[in-house]
Amino acid sequence: MLKVEDLHYAYDGAIAVAGVSLEVGDTEIVALLGANGAGKSTTVKCIAGAQRPARGRIAFNGAELAGRPSHHVVRHGITLVPEGRMIFPQLSVVDNLEMGAYAVRDQKAKAQSMDFVLDLFPRLAERRSQLAGLMSGGEQQMLAIARGLMSAPKLVILDEPSLGLMPTLVQGLFDLVRSIRDRGIGILLVEQNVHQSLRICDRGYVLEKGQVVLSGTGRELLADDFVQKAFLGTGAAA
Ligand SMILES: Nc1ncnc2c1ncn2[C@@H]1O[C@H](COP(=O)(O)OP(=O)(O)OP(=O)(O)O)[C@@H](O)[C@H]1O
Ligand SMILES: [Mg+2]
Repeated sequence: MLKVEDLHYAYDGAIAVAGVSLEVGDTEIVALLGANGAGKSTTVKCIAGAQRPARGRIAFNGAELAGRPSHHVVRHGITLVPEGRMIFPQLSVVDNLEMGAYAVRDQKAKAQSMDFVLDLFPRLAERRSQLAGLMSGGEQQMLAIARGLMSAPKLVILDEPSLGLMPTLVQGLFDLVRSIRDRGIGILLVEQNVHQSLRICDRGYVLEKGQVVLSGTGRELLADDFVQKAFLGTGAAA
C-alpha cells in the first residue's frame, strides 16, 4: 500500500533523514522505532505532507505523493496523528471530530465516519458535547486518534500515541491500535514503548541517525540482540 524509497530531509543543512526506505502493506501494523532524534517524526511528517522531502519517492496505492501538501495526502487516504495531541480545547468533542473530516466533502461519508469513530470510542460518544479541554489526558489522546480516523484513512500514522499516558492506560491504547487494524486500516506506529509495539506489530524498522539500521517481523526484532540492548535493557551483554 505505502512504499517509501530513499527519503531525505534536512533542517537548514542539518540532516535528519538520510535515505529511509520502508513499506506498509494493507491492514499491516508497522512499528517505526529509534532513539530520540533518530528521525522518526521527520520521516512521518514527510510521508504525511507536513514537510517536503529533499529527495525520495512516496508511493501510495499507485499515486506518487512525495512533496504533495497534506490536504492532498489526506484525500489519498493517509492521516497523521502528530506528536502532542493538538486538539482544540475550546471546542466540543464532536466539533473536534468534525475538524478531522475537513477534507471530506460528501456529507453522508462524514456521517458514516462519525458513527464509525463513536462506535470505536464509546467514551467519546458519552462525552460528545463536552469541551475537549476538560477531558483527561488519556481521553484527549483518544480524541486525537479518533479525529484522525474521521477522514476515513486507509493508513493512519500515529506518532508516539502512548507518550504521557499513565501505565494503566497504555495497554488500552495498544488494544485500540489493534482494533483499528481489525477494521481494515493500516497503521504506521512511532513509539518509545518498544516492547509493546513489537508485540503487536507485524513488522518494524529501527532508525538511527536518519537511516534504517534494522528491520524484520515484530518477533524477530524482539529477539534481536541489538534491539534488546538498545531499547529493552535485556540483551545478553547488557
Ligand atoms: N524543527 C526543527 N528544526 C531543526 N532541527 C530539527 C527540527 N525538528 C527536528 N530536528 C532535528 O532533526 C533530527 C530528527 O528529529 P525527529 O524529531 O525527526 O526525531 P525523532 O526520532 O522523532 O525523535 P523523538 O523520539 O525525540 O521524537 C534531530 O536531530 C532533531 O534535533
Ligand atoms: Mg518524534
